[in-house]
Amino acid sequence: MTRTIGVLSGKGGVGKTTLVANLGSALSNLSKSVLIVDADLSGANLIQHFGIEPLTTLNDVMAGRAFITEAFYKINGVAIIPASILDYSEDITRLKNILLDFTGDRDVILIDGPSGSGKVAEGVIQASDEIIIVTEPEMPSITNAIGIIKLAEKYNRPISGVVINKKRNEKSQLTAQNIEETLNQRLLGEITDHKRVREAIALRIPVVTYSPKSKVSRQFMNTAYRLLGVEPKEKSLKNRIRAAFYRPPKYF
Ligand SMILES: Nc1ncnc2c1ncn2[C@@H]1O[C@H](COP(=O)(O)OP(=O)(O)O)[C@@H](O)[C@H]1O
Ligand SMILES: [Mg+2]
Repeated sequence: MTRTIGVLSGKGGVGKTTLVANLGSALSNLSKSVLIVDADLSGANLIQHFGIEPLTTLNDVMAGRAFITEAFYKINGVAIIPASILDYSEDITRLKNILLDFTGDRDVILIDGPSGSGKVAEGVIQASDEIIIVTEPEMPSITNAIGIIKLAEKYNRPISGVVINKKRNEKSQLTAQNIEETLNQRLLGEITDHKRVREAIALRIPVVTYSPKSKVSRQFMNTAYRLLGVEPKEKSLKNRIRAAFYRPPKYF
């Protein structure tokens, strides 16, 4: 059965698009059939994480100028429907119907949504079965996330969980436990604010592909596991060092 998951946040720039690009790639690495869709009609930039220049986009499909198959691209196992920033539209009411074509065909459809709780966010919620909330570990971002949770409740869509992004080693940031309690939602993942993510974006490759062994990539993979209902085995630094130096005993 296909899980169609909308990715939303109260505030902008928190990392929704980065999450969709990397979670999509992480799920694909776990042999899931994934489609990612750019539905941030005012800030479409999902495709920039993959380095292609699409000729046809979701905007063309919604305007009736193209068939969905013409706006369908595949890179490294991840299928993508991009949007265009040059062709602004607020009408996303057809998204649900457009995605029905892929339902049954895919394990997961991730929809990269806009920031805030406007009309497009509402359309994304209606097109989704469940919602992932992305937030930075700071109060303004968390307060605004409450608005999205309320909107999802209005349409009876469950929240799959919260992803905390741009975690830094700073006391001013809220802890995961604080955030789980404030939002009353389960935590799906915590992603560190890391230069590898920015490097990967500059190279137009998801960081899980660019630097698969980095800490952030492990965090994205762990988020993918949790989304699939599997609790990842967190390797402590001590155990990782032990594993790196481990040599099997010689008996003869
Ligand atoms: N984990 C991270 N570490 C470092 N920089 C990040 C991280 N996540 C996002 N960013 C930066 O923040 C910018 C905005 O992220 P983006 O995913 O586009 O946010 P949104 O889609 O929520 O508006 C990215 O272009 C990138 O430079
Ligand atoms: Mg975005």
